[in-house]
Amino acid sequence: MRENLHCRPFREEDLHLLDGVAEDPTVLGPYAWTGFSSGLRRRWAETGLLTDDGGALAVVDQGEPVGVVSWRKAAYNAASHAWNIGLCMLPEERRRGSGEQAARWLVHYLFAHTQTNRLEAHIDAENIPSRTGIEKVGFVYEGMARGAAFRNGAWRDVCLYGLLREDLRPA
Ligand SMILES: CC(C)(COP(=O)(O)OP(=O)(O)OC[C@H]1O[C@@H](n2cnc3c(N)ncnc32)[C@H](O)[C@@H]1OP(=O)(O)O)[C@@H](O)C(=O)NCCC(=O)NCCS
Repeated sequence: MRENLHCRPFREEDLHLLDGVAEDPTVLGPYAWTGFSSGLRRRWAETGLLTDDGGALAVVDQGEPVGVVSWRKAAYNAASHAWNIGLCMLPEERRRGSGEQAARWLVHYLFAHTQTNRLEAHIDAENIPSRTGIEKVGFVYEGMARGAAFRNGAWRDVCLYGLLREDLRPA
């Protein structure tokens, strides 16, 4: 348990995390990187990366920004949506428990501060670190979306994971 780990809105000093996600393929890694992107700093300046349709927060450990958590709206009908979550830790921070702790932090944040009943994660079938990590947090494997995501020259299968409020058990 990394007790000092928490998430916060992005500050100027955290923005190198966004640059890494946008510009450095090794940050998102072989199963999540889908090409260079742009506009994250502009969106941060406009919205703080917090909108009604989703958001992103810096993961901070011992005062140092070490990763990014995000969520976006996945609508199911006019009255209902889930939050589809994403997570990326800096490569040098991995396998130290931070990713799991950040995911738990985001789960509790979203259930505490929004009325959504369902969180979900869509994970490349080959992304074993992410799949085993999200299962450890309590997400339930719900099935496979075959050939759903184009990455590095091929259409890939995507694993669907879900977590309902009622799935949460006291630690
Ligand atoms: C997925 C990711 C966030 C995990 O972060 P992390 O800080 O390394 O994860 P943790 O150290 O908290 O590990 C939690 C559990 O995940 C699993 N796990 C993490 N890395 C793993 C690996 N390389 N191989 C197998 N299992 C792994 C383990 O079950 C681990 O628990 P354990 O160490 O007690 O066995 C990180 O690998 C990452 O940022 N990857 C690139 C971006 C990405 O793929 N994001 C997911 C897109 S949906």
